[in-house]
Amino acid sequence: MIDATTKLLGVIGDPIEHSKSPHLHNYLIKCLNLNFCYLAFKAPPTQLAKLIDGFRAMGIAGFNVTVPHKETILPLLDDLADDVKVLGAVNTVVVENGKFIGYNTDWIGFLNPLIETDLQHQHAVILGAGGAAKGIVYGLLQKRIGKLTLVNRTVGKAEALAEHIQSQSGFDAIDVVALDSELLIPSTREAQLLVNTTSVGMWPKVDETPISASMLHPNQIVYDLVYNPLETRLLKEARQVGAQTIDGLGMFIGQGVASFSKWTHTKVPVELLESVRKYLIEL
Ligand code: ATR
Repeated sequence: MIDATTKLLGVIGDPIEHSKSPHLHNYLIKCLNLNFCYLAFKAPPTQLAKLIDGFRAMGIAGFNVTVPHKETILPLLDDLADDVKVLGAVNTVVVENGKFIGYNTDWIGFLNPLIETDLQHQHAVILGAGGAAKGIVYGLLQKRIGKLTLVNRTVGKAEALAEHIQSQSGFDAIDVVALDSELLIPSTREAQLLVNTTSVGMWPKVDETPISASMLHPNQIVYDLVYNPLETRLLKEARQVGAQTIDGLGMFIGQGVASFSKWTHTKVPVELLESVRKYLIEL
């Protein structure tokens, strides 16, 4: 029940109408019987600073940040977590003693479905070289990945990402390949993990896939960050060759739950994760 002591949470982005975050967080709030309310705020880039001032004035408890503000919000915050200083992107703001602190729970959410998977010394192929790929690489380095292949349509962007990783972490077992190159074949054949961070295969272009099914193999985990549709063409073809598949909903829930725990100081029980997933699929 919303009353005079209800604390406000939210998400800012543009567009924001299709965000599933309000569903996720209000479901958790209800199940855990907490006195919070989570709303979506459309924030065109020109209004971002004003909106943040408004949040300060109204005493918001915390909020998520999504496209296109994950990077541009940094100078508007009071302090940044260490991972944000490396990644340059915020998806969560926590209000601590009145200060707005920027965090990144995207990479934590990405690792959530891989928690039991030993990736030490393994080879991962990452499709895409944007903000999402950067976070995923950060997560994989925490898991002590052995080798990375960065694959992108625009090779220069993948090269820039590889250089950024090397300079920030010293990790240099990285190669860069063009998305349509034959050189991709040996890497995908060898890799234990293949992650799609591009939007290829996302609704409405559900017939598209970033790489040919012939590059997939059974001893591989294929992880697609896209969650609309839940089973992309890439994941369907991976399943058909006998690979293990992970869809993007696990990461979405993982990042949300990590943010939620920071705001509410409440641990979300594991049993609740499965019911959240069912709830989001049935929406
Ligand atoms: P995000 O923050 O989600 O990573 P982004 O920074 O815009 O978003 O990056 C999108 C990624 O998807 C990029 O790697 C992009 O490739 P380019 O760098 O060549 O643009 C990739 N991508 C998007 N649409 C694509 C398409 N139709 N084919 C191949 N790659 C695509």
